[in-house]
Amino acid sequence: MERLVSNWYNHRALPESYICPPETRPGKLSIPSGDTIPVVNLGEALINRSNTILNVLRASQKFGFFQVVNHGVSEKVLNDTMNVVEEFFKMPMEEKASLYSEDPNKVCRLYTSNINYGTEKYHFWRDILKHHCHPLDDCIKLWPQKPTRYRDVIRTFSVEGKKLGLTILELLTEGLGLESGYFKKDLSEAMLLVANHYPPCPDPSLTLGLPKHCDPNLITILLQGHTFGLQVFKDGQWIGVQPLPNALVVNIGHQLRIVSNKKLKSAEHRAVTNSKVARTTVGLFISSSEDSIIEPAKSLTNAAQPPLYRAFRYKEFLSYYFSMMGDTELALQPFKLPFNQSVIS
Ligand code: OGA
Ligand code: NI
Repeated sequence: MERLVSNWYNHRALPESYICPPETRPGKLSIPSGDTIPVVNLGEALINRSNTILNVLRASQKFGFFQVVNHGVSEKVLNDTMNVVEEFFKMPMEEKASLYSEDPNKVCRLYTSNINYGTEKYHFWRDILKHHCHPLDDCIKLWPQKPTRYRDVIRTFSVEGKKLGLTILELLTEGLGLESGYFKKDLSEAMLLVANHYPPCPDPSLTLGLPKHCDPNLITILLQGHTFGLQVFKDGQWIGVQPLPNALVVNIGHQLRIVSNKKLKSAEHRAVTNSKVARTTVGLFISSSEDSIIEPAKSLTNAAQPPLYRAFRYKEFLSYYFSMMGDTELALQPFKLPFNQSVIS
């Protein structure tokens, strides 16, 4: 519990154990101009569905990242969600102590830094609340009891966020030419909520809130609030994801990259900190259940476009992914098919 950054950060210099190696430090932050993360108006799907499909598809192919506006999740739900999660992190430590755990298998827990505080070489400037959202009626009983509105507000956000995720997946299904409803059942059955809290940091140039990574799941919907901090790695450069009012950030995870046989991109991203204000983000990570088989969709592969990945259970992938955190290509390596084998299959 003492390890939570929000417990001790105030008025302290950056501890040495939070300083990243020089090659991963954000340094002086200048947001490169040029490419910007696309913004897709989902409301347009009612009038011109084919154009919306094209926008979502292009963004997922080129960036693996986009923002959505007019997405159907109301401003009230977004504000309530951000407020209740910010309130959670602001509560005195005694109120949160029972949720603190360093056991990654706990289904609802408060922890800090990244995957394993005890074994990581250096730490990250982040506290995390993470819990399952499926099956909702079972796991809601394990969610925080305080603030008292937490369960009600987050239930609504998770239901609406899941609906939005499925809407976007259906647009991608049509864009890729898969059969309708391809992602609707097993592949999108599970969902995790991860709330990230990045307190103001004494030296944002030397540390990170979250290291470079790709999400392992199918698709992620992130409420990033008003404060900048999310960056996407594209063509050797970091591009900032501009906070926009009432927008949600969407990114493609490894599962979708694999099912689409690499037609869609799972982009590397990270979170930087700032010295002025705390930043809170709330992510919904839609994925298959851990026992589901993940493989390139059969209708997207043929002799000319052989499958690039073998079939595997998601839990097999997850345990390898967490052991290789931070290295996207290495994490995918054992699941790739060698070229000659894929030509034969
Ligand atoms: C994540 C993530 C970004 C952010 O939780 O996987 O990428 O800005 N979060 O908090
Ligand atoms: Ni992420």
